[in-house]
Amino acid sequence: MWVYVEDLPRHVGEKVELRGWLANRRKSGKLVFLILRDGTGFVQGVVNRAEVDEETFERARRLYYESSVRVTGKVRADSRAPGGVELDVEKIEVIQATTDYPIPKVREENIPDVGKLLAQRHLWIRSRRQWAILRVRDEVQRAIEDFLHQEGFLRLDAPILTTMAVEGTTTLFRTDYFGEPAYLSQSGQLYMEALACSHGKVYCFGPTFRAEKSKTRRHLTEFWMMEPEWAFATLEDLLDLIENLLVYVVARVLERRRRELEMLGRDLTRLEAVQKPFPRITYDEAVEILHKAGLAFTPPDDFGGDEETVISQAFDRPVMVTHYPAEVKAFYMKRDPERPDRVRCVDVLAPEGYGEIVGGSEREDDYETLVQRIREHGLPLEPYQWYLDLRRYGTVPHGGFGLGLERTVAWITGVRHVRETIPFPRMLEKIYP
Ligand code: 4AD
Ligand code: MG
Repeated sequence: MWVYVEDLPRHVGEKVELRGWLANRRKSGKLVFLILRDGTGFVQGVVNRAEVDEETFERARRLYYESSVRVTGKVRADSRAPGGVELDVEKIEVIQATTDYPIPKVREENIPDVGKLLAQRHLWIRSRRQWAILRVRDEVQRAIEDFLHQEGFLRLDAPILTTMAVEGTTTLFRTDYFGEPAYLSQSGQLYMEALACSHGKVYCFGPTFRAEKSKTRRHLTEFWMMEPEWAFATLEDLLDLIENLLVYVVARVLERRRRELEMLGRDLTRLEAVQKPFPRITYDEAVEILHKAGLAFTPPDDFGGDEETVISQAFDRPVMVTHYPAEVKAFYMKRDPERPDRVRCVDVLAPEGYGEIVGGSEREDDYETLVQRIREHGLPLEPYQWYLDLRRYGTVPHGGFGLGLERTVAWITGVRHVRETIPFPRMLEKIYP
């Protein structure tokens, strides 16, 4: 009977068939240990010379890793084994024997050239570490969706092909749309604002694109963003929602993907500290933290990676920084009536130096003011006519935010670079495989 590795503990004492790949192999005299993986987990198969025929034993001795196999054997409980079971192998059927797998079987941390691994990404994803990271990614994505649906949000996705900039014109990817210019979406936000006026609470979750020339551990040119938009919400409503969302997501991963986090060597106490309330500070207070740490920083600059790292290291959980100077933020953000040089926005900085994982704001809802902002930002008015309609017909106060999936997964898994948190990363000068 075909059984998956994750289901083996329910089949102790039974004869089962596993279908998968040889992840690794060890030999010890009359025994050969086969580490088998089938997507759901890893299990050790023991081939005992005294228990199998000559041919099977030879096959096991010669089997090279990443060969594809069907292995039959009896499930044995073993409290020392990860997962609590081992397989006493009786039969090995080789589907394809490999002999020259291109990625050397050494500890991934010891492979000096990440460039080589990235060029082999289609195979690298089979490794234990990448497997664990991507399983956490799946859980984070699902937890976000479950949470938002519980909160009454509808998932209604935005188009990828668009005609306008959301986050500035310098990072637009241009493409040809039947002879007219079109751009790959930087953010679904403007479309979510339209949908919020028909459904109240909505979100989109899809790929977004930025022609980022920066080569940092936080930047991809194609990344996934989850963007809720909420009619009648204030900045304070958004802060509460973000806080509840992040607490929920981290708790879900700790509950359902603890084993993967342990495989990655993640310090779980850092994640267990992610509880309410999150610190809420203003841009000015963040600047004070920088100055106390001895950094030369002159407002009204935007924070870069280094500043974000210093600010976030002052706290043991995500910190919500609000009220940035208007000039460093996007055109659609609403000014604070009490301090018109500031916008009612938030950047959430993850702990341990992971930087901004969420950016959001109240939106400018007044027609005349919005027109003026679009002009001030040097954007053409024409493509924004439909967006301006939202301020012509029944405008309401509203707001939303965008959560970057890869940066969130990097923080939760403790992985340094976002390139390992997406199956096939796209970065400056990297689009293969
Ligand atoms: O702060 P950003 O640019 O905000 C927006 O796009 C808003 N329109 C979202 C909204 O309010 N609906 O991006 C939001 C988040 C960032 O906090 C970050 O996590 C992620 O998206 N992000 C990136 N992730 C990887 N690579 C990049 N180049 C990213 N740029 C932004
Ligand atoms: Mg931002």
